[in-house]
Amino acid sequence: MKEHWYIACRSRQLGKEPLARTVHGTALVLFRDQDGRAACLRDRCAHRNMALSRGKVTGKGLRCAYHGWTWAGDGHCADIPASCDGCESHAKLRVAAFPTVEKQGFVWIWTGAAEPGGAPLDFPRFDEAGWHHWVMERRFEGHAFHCVENFLDVPHTAHVHRGLFRGEETKEVEIEIRGGEDWIEAEFINEARMDSLIGRMLVPDGESIHHVDRFQLPYVTRVDYRMSERRQYIVMSQCTPVTETETRVYTYMAYRFEPLGALVRLAFEPISHLILNQDVKIIREQTKDIARDGGARFVYHETDAIARGIRALLDGKSLAHQAVERRKLRV
Ligand code: FES
Ligand SMILES: [Fe+2]
Repeated sequence: MKEHWYIACRSRQLGKEPLARTVHGTALVLFRDQDGRAACLRDRCAHRNMALSRGKVTGKGLRCAYHGWTWAGDGHCADIPASCDGCESHAKLRVAAFPTVEKQGFVWIWTGAAEPGGAPLDFPRFDEAGWHHWVMERRFEGHAFHCVENFLDVPHTAHVHRGLFRGEETKEVEIEIRGGEDWIEAEFINEARMDSLIGRMLVPDGESIHHVDRFQLPYVTRVDYRMSERRQYIVMSQCTPVTETETRVYTYMAYRFEPLGALVRLAFEPISHLILNQDVKIIREQTKDIARDGGARFVYHETDAIARGIRALLDGKSLAHQAVERRKLRV
């Protein structure tokens, strides 16, 4: 899953100081050049291998804390302070630089071996009239696969998030499962309001909900709840693998809720943080328990809805020729 764009950090996190991040097990450093452009280098000075994230940003690039060698955003050595022959001696010295794109308030990087394919993901309804959004960030102590499974798993919500998201009382709902080259989704047909705080808040009139859970490669999940044209929610998470047991998750929450508009966030945001923290905890425990018992050996059941499809996509299989499937679930 390396040949994809991933979020390295939020734009607002990248100021005047270098920022260390690990992605796919590789230590990286991000910084802004003198024009404010975001850049990403391997976090290791080519000279004596100091972490460049210990250094300082100067007009020429990122200056190493040890001997002051300075690396430009494209990875070339821009200065060796102790050298007398100007640029000559260091023109060919390099550290690895990674393609970096900044958009919608995020800094995206490409650490794949191939040239970047396509553009980073667009978050939907960004800056659209009538819509509001905020972003939440969490460090999950678990593999990105376990995170995406969790974000698109409905049955756990009645247990891990009981009372907040779903209640004890469940109802039968029909789901339709569709897949494509690099995605799979489950549409919940005429789902009833959840028996919970979130249900009462987001679906005050008790309307039925149009709900779609979607996974797309590499590790992106999207949940759409639509009560009416004027009341809709989108929860989209982009998971950046840090290591095999750590994932940094950026969750984009967009909503339209008339006539309350932005005000609904006052209640919605703290509850969303509580729910997210419950998932952080359950994934941490799951990771520990899997490690204690010699690795994952999962059972896939029909109530896992799209989990088997997610696994297949991550294993490199396309779901483009898979027939549309209907089944029932109690949620
Ligand atoms: S280790 Fe970086 S300049 Fe020497
Ligand atoms: Fe959850």
